[in-house]
Amino acid sequence: MTNSDTTVVRIEGLGKTYPGAAFSALTGVSLTVGRGEIVVLLGLSGSGKSTLLRHINGLETPTEGTVVSLGRDVSSLTGRALRELRGQTGFIFQQFEIVGPLTVLENVLTGALATLRGPRIGILTYPKSLRLKALGHLDRVGLLDRAYQRADTLSGGQQQRVAIARALMQDPEILLADEPVASLDPESSSQVMALIREIAAERGLTVICSLHQVEIALGWGDRIVGLRAGEVVLDTRTDNLTREQVMEIYGRVATSTTEITAVEVELSQAREELLSEEIQRSALERLGENRVTGEAQ
Ligand SMILES: Nc1ncnc2c1ncn2[C@@H]1O[C@H](COP(=O)(O)OP(=O)(O)O)[C@@H](O)[C@H]1O
Ligand SMILES: [Mg+2]
Repeated sequence: MTNSDTTVVRIEGLGKTYPGAAFSALTGVSLTVGRGEIVVLLGLSGSGKSTLLRHINGLETPTEGTVVSLGRDVSSLTGRALRELRGQTGFIFQQFEIVGPLTVLENVLTGALATLRGPRIGILTYPKSLRLKALGHLDRVGLLDRAYQRADTLSGGQQQRVAIARALMQDPEILLADEPVASLDPESSSQVMALIREIAAERGLTVICSLHQVEIALGWGDRIVGLRAGEVVLDTRTDNLTREQVMEIYGRVATSTTEITAVEVELSQAREELLSEEIQRSALERLGENRVTGEAQ
């Protein structure tokens, strides 16, 4: 089959310079994502992750290059066509973007607003079929018992799960997640990341998720695309990575001093291990030689 059957996002030579900015936020970014892929955009703060994600659903316009999302040239879309694309593209944010005073169920229902006409105030103004659908999604993210509670009484991890349920209301084909666990503790982070993967698998969703933590990226993504200062510096699958390749990822994507120190420590340990393996091997060889000579006698 040709690529067009499986390609969900195709980015070519994307450059973005914000008005008045001295530097480009993105330069020459090319990237193709296939249906069902789970891709991590990995990079430090300021490397261009959010800017790249926002181009995929038309929240930003390229300065150069093209972004084709679900077969459509994003920058050429306006009005209904743009709303349609955004409807097929779920977006999850670092800060959850939950409406605190509303109930959990109402927050989930707002995910369906793109398909409805007119403003909605209160749960009963949504069709029953949508209410049932919303409850189903809340059940899926493990929060059915919280449906009628004010959203701001939930923990961060629970609010992010509400945001996932809200995104599912759109029946998206693509799920974009912009540092979805950056505001969460490690325990909630792993719950949320696992949930995104499970739901993606169940629904055949394509996921592009930005992260700044190499550890999470390695354990979670099928593929890592590393960004540094607006450029793609790495694009690799995560299965069968050698320790050296992992270290290379740290070296290319992580440049904070603590991480550099961690990499140096790890590399020197690796070298020591190699060295001791080397010593052991030559010792064994010598033993073997002795044995051989011993046997020969
Ligand atoms: N709306 C904006 N206007 C001007 N500059 C911006 C805007 N958004 C982001 N930038 C700049 O673009 C670069 C990339 O930012 P961003 O995409 O937010 O990176 P990340 O999400 O990896 O932290 C940064 O230098 C940032 O300051
Ligand atoms: Mg960002």
